[in-house]
Amino acid sequence: MKELTILGISGSLRARSVNTALLRAAGDLVPAGVSIPLASIDLPLYNDDLFDEDKLAPVRKLNQAIIDADGLLIAAPEFNYGIPGPLKNAIDWCSRPAFNSPFANKPVAIIGAAPSSVGTARAQGQVKQNLLGMSALMFPYPEFLCGRSTEKFDADLVLTDPHTRERLGAMLEEFVAFIRKWQA
Ligand SMILES: Cc1cc2nc3c(=O)[nH]c(=O)nc-3n(C[C@H](O)[C@H](O)[C@H](O)COP(=O)(O)O)c2cc1C
Repeated sequence: MKELTILGISGSLRARSVNTALLRAAGDLVPAGVSIPLASIDLPLYNDDLFDEDKLAPVRKLNQAIIDADGLLIAAPEFNYGIPGPLKNAIDWCSRPAFNSPFANKPVAIIGAAPSSVGTARAQGQVKQNLLGMSALMFPYPEFLCGRSTEKFDADLVLTDPHTRERLGAMLEEFVAFIRKWQA
């Protein structure tokens, strides 16, 4: 079977991000033959005027990584019931050209972790809505919400909770099948 690359995009810039840690756990739990390299969303603020400048190398790099990937796994934190600015900024940069962006026809799954009980459900819904507007192929089910993250990760940010690991592994298996079905 063809090897797959699923690009992991963490919506957090924090070194001790639980969402980045979730993507690292996903890299361990994903089926054999699938890799989850992590992208950087440390980008300038979106500005049309910057499109042709050299400083956009990090934007071009992210854009190309999305194009090259077989699918995307976005770990979305939730800030004030919504999408954190850095993640929305990255989505906006890579949403051009409109209707023909790297997100068009790209299989995308969204996950997220937070100390609260809702597990970034509201932010995930908003990311889904944004990407549907770019004709991304949104993975519908099972959803993956990780609430009470402080109880699920250890001090080194390793996902230790067995039930959460099992749910994440099962979701990844379904997402990989979704990508393969689309590619067939
Ligand atoms: C400005 C701000 C707003 C937040 N708003 C929410 C929120 O609406 N819902 C929620 O579940 N957590 C909220 N949190 C807590 C984050 O979920 C928590 O800090 C989480 O660890 C951030 O993700 P990260 O660890 O990947 O950076 C907020 C945190 C900050 C700093």
